[in-house]
Amino acid sequence: MEAAGGEGDVAAELRQRLAAGGQDHVLRFWPELDGAARRALAAELCRMDVAEINRFFRRARGDGGGAAAAAAAAGLDARMEPVPRDVLGSASRDRGLVPRWESRGLAEIAASRVAALLLAGGQGTRLGVPYPKGMCDVGLPSRKTLFHLQAQRLRRLQQMAEEQHGTPCHIPWYIMTSGRTMESTKEFFQKHRYFGLKKENVIFFQQGMLPALGFDGKILLEEKGKIAMAPDGNGGLYRALGSHGIMDDMERRGVRSVHVYCVDNILVKVADPRFIGFCLEKGADCGAKVVEKTNPTEPVGVVCRVDGVYQVVEYSEISLGTAQQRGPDGRLLFNAGNIANHYFTTAFLKDVVNIYEPQLQHHVAEKKIPHVDITTGQLVQPEKPNGIKMEKFVFDIFQFSKKFVVYEVLREDEFSPLKNADSQNGKDNPTTARHALMSLHHCWVLNAGGHFVDENGTRIPAIPRLKDANDLPIQCEISPLVSYGGEGLEQLVKDREFRTPLIIDEDGIHELVNNGV
Ligand code: UTP
Repeated sequence: MEAAGGEGDVAAELRQRLAAGGQDHVLRFWPELDGAARRALAAELCRMDVAEINRFFRRARGDGGGAAAAAAAAGLDARMEPVPRDVLGSASRDRGLVPRWESRGLAEIAASRVAALLLAGGQGTRLGVPYPKGMCDVGLPSRKTLFHLQAQRLRRLQQMAEEQHGTPCHIPWYIMTSGRTMESTKEFFQKHRYFGLKKENVIFFQQGMLPALGFDGKILLEEKGKIAMAPDGNGGLYRALGSHGIMDDMERRGVRSVHVYCVDNILVKVADPRFIGFCLEKGADCGAKVVEKTNPTEPVGVVCRVDGVYQVVEYSEISLGTAQQRGPDGRLLFNAGNIANHYFTTAFLKDVVNIYEPQLQHHVAEKKIPHVDITTGQLVQPEKPNGIKMEKFVFDIFQFSKKFVVYEVLREDEFSPLKNADSQNGKDNPTTARHALMSLHHCWVLNAGGHFVDENGTRIPAIPRLKDANDLPIQCEISPLVSYGGEGLEQLVKDREFRTPLIIDEDGIHELVNNGV
C-alpha cells in the first residue's frame, strides 16, 4: 500500500481489521486517493463495525435467526387473526367517545406531557428531490412546506390546550434525520425561525447509517474513496434514541406520551389529542393509527395478531385468498392498514431502547445501487437490483407491547403520503397530496356551514370528496394556525358564500365574496 507516514499506519491497521471481516476490497483504490480523500475514507471506516455489519447481513439473509424467521413466516396466513374489537377505537364508529378522548389528550398536552417525534431520515429516492422531503412544497396556495404545516399544527394544538386549561404548555418536537438530511434540515428550520416554535423545543438527532451490500455481502463503494451508505431504516429510531440521549431528554422534560409519525403524510395530525386520549384511556403502552384497507390488493401492511402477538404483515407476505377474506360486516377481515403513525409511552420506549432493540432484525430491500466496479474502477448504474440495503422498521417493536391498541381514522381525513414525483405515476405524489389537503379543507368549510359559488355567483353543489385523481378539488386552504382539525370555523364561514381560491389564515379570510346570505 502506498501511503506516507501516519496515513500508512492507519491504512495498514484498517486493512487488517477489514481483511478479518472479508471487506478489505474497499481499500482497493487507496493508492489513487489524495490526502483528503484518504482521511475521509479512513474516518468513515473507523466508525464502522465490520463484524457487526457481517452479522447483520447473515441474520437478515437467513442464517440462524433469519432462517428460523423464514420458516416461521411460512404458513403465516393460518396464524393471523384480525385486531379484536376491544382493542380498537374508531374515530367514525365510536364518534360518541371522541370528545372524551380529545379532552383527555388535550389535558395531557396542557400538562406538557406529550411529545411529537418526526421520522425524517429517509432518502426520498422515489420523490427524487435533492433536499429533505419535509422541505417539499407541493404547490398549495400558501406554498407551505410539509415541515411548515406540521410546525403550525403543533402551535395551534399548544394554543388549544392552553386556552382550555389556562396553563402555558409546550409539545417538544423531536426530529430524526440521517447523515444525508441533518444539515439541510437544520438550516431550513433556522432560516424559517423554527416556524414560530421555540428553538429549545425542536430537538434534532441523527439516525445511524449502514453500508449498502452486494448480494454476496460485500460492502459497495459509491466512489473510489467513499462507501455507499444508507440510513438504517425508520426503525433505526430506537438505537438513535439511546445513542443521542433522547430518552433522558424526554425524562427531564416530563414527557410521558410520544406520537411518532412520518414526514411525508400531508394530512398528519401531529400529536393528535384524540389518538393520545384514546391510548391513555385504554392504558396502552403502544398504539397504531390505521386507515381501513378496502382493496385486497392494495400494497399496504396490515396490523394484526400472529400467534397472539401484534405485528404488521405486508401484503406480499400473505396469499390473495387471505387478503380477500371478509368479516360479517362485509369489510375486509384484515383491514387495519398501517400508516406508520404510532403512540408510545416513554416507559415502553425506554424498555425498547435498553432491552429489546438488539433483538430487532433488519429487513432486506433489494435495490439498484450505483457503485464502483471493484475490478475496473468504473461507475456502474445497474438496471436491475444488484445489492441490498438493510433496514429496521418502526413498527418492529409492536411485538414487545404489553397493552397494544389500534385507532382507526378515515383515510381522507388523515392520510395522504408523498412518495412519488408527479411525473412517475398518479399515486401519492405532490398533486394527490395537494388535492387531499384542499379537499379536506373544502369539507371543513361545508361542515361549518359555508358555501362555495362559481364565477356567476351560483352555488357549487357540495361534492366534498374527490372521486378519482383527475377530479380537481375546490381550491381551499385553511392555515393550521386557524384550525387544527376543522374546529373553530363556524364563526368565520357559517352562512357565507365564497369564491375560490379561498384562503383562511391568521390574517383573515381572502377571496370572500359576500358577507352574508
Ligand atoms: P419511506 O419508506 O417511504 O422511505 O419512509 P423514503 O426514504 O421517504 O422514500 P424512498 O423509499 O427512498 O422513496 C417512510 C418514512 O420513514 C422515514 C422517512 O423519512 C419517512 O418519513 N425514514 C425512512 C427514516 O426516518 N429513516 C429511514 O432510514 C427510512
